[in-house]
Amino acid sequence: MIQPEKIEMTKEEYELINEFVTKHFGITFPEHKKMIFESRLRPRLQALRLQTYMDYYLRLQFDPKAELSMLAVQLTNNESYFFRETKQFDSLFGSIFDELKASSLFPGPLRFLCAGCSSGDEPYTLRIYSMEHRRKFGGELPQISAVDLDPQRLAMAQVAEYGMRSMRALNEAQIARYFTRIAPERFLLNSEYRQGIDFALANLLDLATFRKAMAYDVIFCRNVLIYFSDEAFHKTITNFARCLRPGGLLFLGHSETILGQSHHFEPVRLDSCLAYRRLACD
Ligand SMILES: C[S@@+](CC[C@H](N)C(=O)[O-])C[C@H]1O[C@@H](n2cnc3c(N)ncnc32)[C@H](O)[C@@H]1O
Repeated sequence: MIQPEKIEMTKEEYELINEFVTKHFGITFPEHKKMIFESRLRPRLQALRLQTYMDYYLRLQFDPKAELSMLAVQLTNNESYFFRETKQFDSLFGSIFDELKASSLFPGPLRFLCAGCSSGDEPYTLRIYSMEHRRKFGGELPQISAVDLDPQRLAMAQVAEYGMRSMRALNEAQIARYFTRIAPERFLLNSEYRQGIDFALANLLDLATFRKAMAYDVIFCRNVLIYFSDEAFHKTITNFARCLRPGGLLFLGHSETILGQSHHFEPVRLDSCLAYRRLACD
């Protein structure tokens, strides 16, 4: 039996598996990332006692259900932390808030979607901001739906325990206010910040997995589309247009843009960041 660390991925294997991954998840690994792709998949070959990446590809072809969630766990980049790029949160709960609330189509709380929520740092930051601005909501804090492809990250989000990497943008006072220390470098998010969030497994390519009966008022999809193929990018933006109400806002990561790429949205400058407003007609 060949030592797993000695198994190399051929160009053909890389192309076939990458195509499969893009079709199912939207994520693509350009050729200069082939080594990363190969090393992230190697543990699966080891676990399944397979001899070649072609064996793994055939397994994906003939029994995809069994392997898809493991594939998502291996391949997704899950980097996230609390209070990441806070200018967007500051604008949402500051200058644009009244307009957003006034234009809401439905009675009751605002509905936020956190698309690609990883281990929960981002939706929990939204919850913390909501609580800090609770007077604006007249008692009804936003309902937050948080979805991701990776079941292990969602399980971590539900436990809500974090290490220092997740805390790196917080100061001591914020850590003391929002968390309880459970080990020297381990923190549990306090229970009031864990309410009002519905975590679910979903695929952004498949609208049925994350669409709700009532449209969302705000979608955060930050640092997700950057890993997508062009086709998956456009499909996801169209999916967002279908589940965001007219006048609703889409926030992307600072290195992502849909400028000139979707007729469903118009850019809106908010203080020192950009958001995209869902237009009323298609
Ligand atoms: C780099 S993290 C970003 C986390 C968070 N939005 C932030 O900015 O801190 C990207 C997340 O998107 C998720 N993701 C990637 N493709 C996805 C898809 N097709 N559907 C749902 N989630 C996906 C990954 O599992 C990962 O947790």
